[in-house]
Amino acid sequence: MTLLVIALFIINTYVYSNLRQRYIEEIKNNFTTQAQILSNRVLLAVNEFDNTIDKLTVSQIIEQIGHLIEGRVLIIDSSKIVIFDSFHILNDEKIDIYEVDRAIRGENISNIYELNIHGKAMYISVPIMQGDRIHGAVLISTSMDGVYKSIENVQKMLFAISLITLLLVTMLSVFFANFISKPIKELTIAMKRTARGVLNEKIEITANDEIGQLAHAYNFMNTKLSHIEKQRREFVANVSHELKTPLASIKILAESLIGDKKSNIDTHREFLIDINSEMDRLNNIVNELLVLVDLDEAKLELKLKSYSLNRVVDKVVATILPLAEKRNIKVRVEHKDNVQIVIDQGKIHQALINIIHNAEKYTEQSGCINIKICYKNKYATIEIRDSGIGIPKASLPYIFDRFYRVNSDRARKTGGTGIGLSIAHRIVSLHQGKIEVISEINKGTTFTIELPIDPRQYCVT
Ligand SMILES: Nc1ncnc2c1ncn2[C@@H]1O[C@H](COP(=O)(O)OP(=O)(O)OP(=O)(O)O)[C@@H](O)[C@H]1O
Ligand SMILES: [Mg+2]
Repeated sequence: MTLLVIALFIINTYVYSNLRQRYIEEIKNNFTTQAQILSNRVLLAVNEFDNTIDKLTVSQIIEQIGHLIEGRVLIIDSSKIVIFDSFHILNDEKIDIYEVDRAIRGENISNIYELNIHGKAMYISVPIMQGDRIHGAVLISTSMDGVYKSIENVQKMLFAISLITLLLVTMLSVFFANFISKPIKELTIAMKRTARGVLNEKIEITANDEIGQLAHAYNFMNTKLSHIEKQRREFVANVSHELKTPLASIKILAESLIGDKKSNIDTHREFLIDINSEMDRLNNIVNELLVLVDLDEAKLELKLKSYSLNRVVDKVVATILPLAEKRNIKVRVEHKDNVQIVIDQGKIHQALINIIHNAEKYTEQSGCINIKICYKNKYATIEIRDSGIGIPKASLPYIFDRFYRVNSDRARKTGGTGIGLSIAHRIVSLHQGKIEVISEINKGTTFTIELPIDPRQYCVT
């Protein structure tokens, strides 16, 4: 804005002074020409013998052309005596002014003066010359008030135009500032609020331009952030809850031990065994949490290599077998196909342990577990079927959620924390595979894992 005012000021001053100069110059030239014409005519009145100027002839000449000149005309002879004054005031008087003095020396001259009564006036004087001989001078004086008035009007007009331009520019910039910077300001405020932790706040999108797209992206980011924040809160709440239960048990057992002075060593031993198993539970939870965090962080870092899936399953079964045998559960592995597959072996091993361990954990004594490995199109399938307690239909959609357990009491007996399946699900998803489950209460559950033979051909996210 300041720049504009400066620019307008410079333009105004330049245009005004240029215009004024040209205008005055033109008037000067005009009057000089008129004076010269008059001077040439007056030459006719010069007496050839004594070089005097005949007054009568001059009067006649001026009568003929004087009306063409807008001003006072004076004809002066070489001794500066006024021969003719169109105002009839200075006739026969000696005139001593600068312009006449110079004209008598052969110069064309003009000057503008500020006169007390008449205002601004221009004096133009030219010599009456024939060859080298100077017979006198013509002096024209004309008022410049009208001229200066016109120039002043032009100046006023220029000022008015500048003012209107300034006003228009100001209005336009205010309009554009509102139009462009208002949404940016709103967005900045919203972003600052987000940075301060105020989530789930949306910006109203009115424009469809780049700023509108930015607001869209911001809203999308905000929704994602609040979703992540919600998950984080739930996760922390769940973890705290899970850790609190065994800690509370340990505290009660420890307090009983401290307060108990009568019981014998065997009872103490029993208490310590309970404390120990609660500690194991805590340890288990922490380990599983660490695996989960690991999986979240190492999202894209699957160490993919070609492995025999049959071998991986055999290894998992070998670790579960002692537990199963203890409870007289039969484990049968059916290698329908020899499946060579590209996987992160460590992670798939972990996923299979979680699912096969569940099959063992949630199967009553003398039950059975059947595992089948086969090809299905471009996928490898591992089916884990148990004859266990089953999962109620209502719980099926939630069993892959973190910390979800069908029945907390039932699970507590078996020592679960509800993380195992969510880990398995995440690992299989990372491999672009999927897990399906069908179950019937008291009949058994079947988990089916489908893994692509080579997940590298899919977009790994
Ligand atoms: N084969 C199964 N038969 C019956 N119920 C099952 C079976 N597998 C899982 N469930 C149910 O699904 C719930 C979630 O399983 P998940 O493996 O995630 O947790 P968990 O076994 O309780 O604890 P952990 O985190 O130690 O594995 C279990 O609590 C259990 O109720
Ligand atoms: Mg489990």
